[in-house]
Amino acid sequence: MITIKDKTFVPFITAEAIQTRIQELAEQINQAYAGKTPLMVVVLNGAFLFAADLAKQLTIPCEITFLRVSSYKGTESTGQLKEILGLTESVAGRDLIVVEDIVDTGKTLGDIRDQLQAQSPASLAIATLLFKPEALRNPIDLQYVGFEIENKFVLGYGLDYDGLGRNTPDILVLE
Ligand code: IMP
Repeated sequence: MITIKDKTFVPFITAEAIQTRIQELAEQINQAYAGKTPLMVVVLNGAFLFAADLAKQLTIPCEITFLRVSSYKGTESTGQLKEILGLTESVAGRDLIVVEDIVDTGKTLGDIRDQLQAQSPASLAIATLLFKPEALRNPIDLQYVGFEIENKFVLGYGLDYDGLGRNTPDILVLE
């Protein structure tokens, strides 16, 4: 149990379950991209632990780059998207795997996907650790999903509440 400011979070997904699921996703990616060299595009800050653990399980050659957006304040989506750090690499002609922590309304990833598609990649797939189907407002194709979860606020393993709580090996949920 963790209390951050006014909120208490209780255990939800264990570190062990996360790592088991990541291994499964990595095996799917290793098969799907055999003979290719995808570019992992990691959405900061939330996906940093997921991306690191996923990358360690990939046996195909791959490159890794990062972008950063900000769209969330507190526990409610603001609907705003700000791209703070853009990509330094060209993504034209590349096989992209966008790595995200969580898909909630789908707005963040929808905007990222549209901006990347405009640069003509060879392909674009999305890997998200968590997905809240009930919260989805913008249809989006998700090729690799770690866990489908209820529409509740979660914390840990990269996910924060007002900047805090990212550094836990487990995922917790708002009590
Ligand atoms: P979307 O644009 O509504 O899909 O929101 C995606 C972003 O909101 C994620 O990348 C997270 O940064 C943040 N977010 C959504 N749900 C949660 C949550 O339950 N805990 C922490 N952050 C969340």
